[in-house]
Amino acid sequence: MRILLKNALLLCDVRSEPKVSDLLVEDGKIAGIGNFTEATAEEIHDMSEKLVMPGFVNAHTHAAMTLMRGFAEDMKLQDWLFKRIFPIEERLTPEDVYYGTMMAQLEMARRGIVAYVDMYFHCDAVAQAALDFGMKALITRGLTDYNGDNGRLKQNIEYFDRWHGRKGLISVGFGPHAPYSCSIRYIDEIARIALELKAPITMHLFESPAEDYSLHEILKTKLSECKVIFAHCVHVSEKDIELLSRENFFVVHNPTSNLKLGSGIAPVQKMIEKGVQVCLGTDGAASNNTLDVWHEMRLATLLQKVSDPRNISIQQALIMAIEQGAKAVGLTSGMIEVGADADLIVVDLKKPWYVPRDRIKNHIVHSGNSLDVFATMIKGRWVYYDGEYPTIDAKYVFKKCEEAIGRLTGTTN
Ligand code: NI
Repeated sequence: MRILLKNALLLCDVRSEPKVSDLLVEDGKIAGIGNFTEATAEEIHDMSEKLVMPGFVNAHTHAAMTLMRGFAEDMKLQDWLFKRIFPIEERLTPEDVYYGTMMAQLEMARRGIVAYVDMYFHCDAVAQAALDFGMKALITRGLTDYNGDNGRLKQNIEYFDRWHGRKGLISVGFGPHAPYSCSIRYIDEIARIALELKAPITMHLFESPAEDYSLHEILKTKLSECKVIFAHCVHVSEKDIELLSRENFFVVHNPTSNLKLGSGIAPVQKMIEKGVQVCLGTDGAASNNTLDVWHEMRLATLLQKVSDPRNISIQQALIMAIEQGAKAVGLTSGMIEVGADADLIVVDLKKPWYVPRDRIKNHIVHSGNSLDVFATMIKGRWVYYDGEYPTIDAKYVFKKCEEAIGRLTGTTN
């Protein structure tokens, strides 16, 4: 199947400038950039007045938490988690997680996200939802041992065996929840297994000011050798920043969630200056409440500019949202180049806020928003196109989520 995108304003990667070009997609991959006649393809789309660019990556979320969107507001992190979220999560069935994840994917595709990193449970349901929808996902099982491991790590290994590498859409990593919920010994055990399987790890780190542990001690384990995606890193010392500036580590900045839960503002500018690879995440919809990396990108840059307007340039903002996210998730290139998977978004430029047209990257960061996304393609398949979701019955997903939410929150039986 060959798909031709004609006359697009094409931004091949976030470091270059856009140019008008056609784009040919064949069997899920970028097959050509240049001029092509309409006879070249079976499916042709006129992309005049549209920008085609690499899609965003959501490097930290708990997708199925869309079921708890708006459920716990104006609360401190620990109360939010222990009084409101955990009691509901205990009652989630695999089917709930499937539809909650599907709802998250509908939103992410609508907002121009092509891949995400997930930490949750009932991961067979998460993986099935990613496969059915056609979205790229690095899936991890949340792991804790403060009340005993209860077979979680064994489950995570089974998920790896069952799903890792499926259809080029899914990879499976390990999800030690946080240093306050995992013992050092447990972190080391997880890291050893991850190293053996060449699987990445994702973990919350220094999210709230109350978190009191030593990264230096944690990195005496095998974790230091793993590819690790650390979420938050709000309360990090100079020494921690130094420890995080390694090629195998990524930090995910989640500005909305950090603000909303009163966690603080991560020192992103300092981390970037010290060579830390920073990408962006939304966290779950229960603490954000949108899954919108485009929005996080703008917020991330504004938060750092409060002290110095030279902080977080247009280029750096786009690198965090796309290029570093792609490197962290490992399933997408973050670029439009021949031979790469066709993971891209189409942005409708027929809006007052995209004029003048010669500074498109500036407009993307500072004046556009994710609702300008006209279409999202993942591995050559349209998963969102002009109001429609071609791979899934969205209305049915809405209905199943409403039913699950009613049952879980006690508004229906
Ligand atoms: Ni989180």
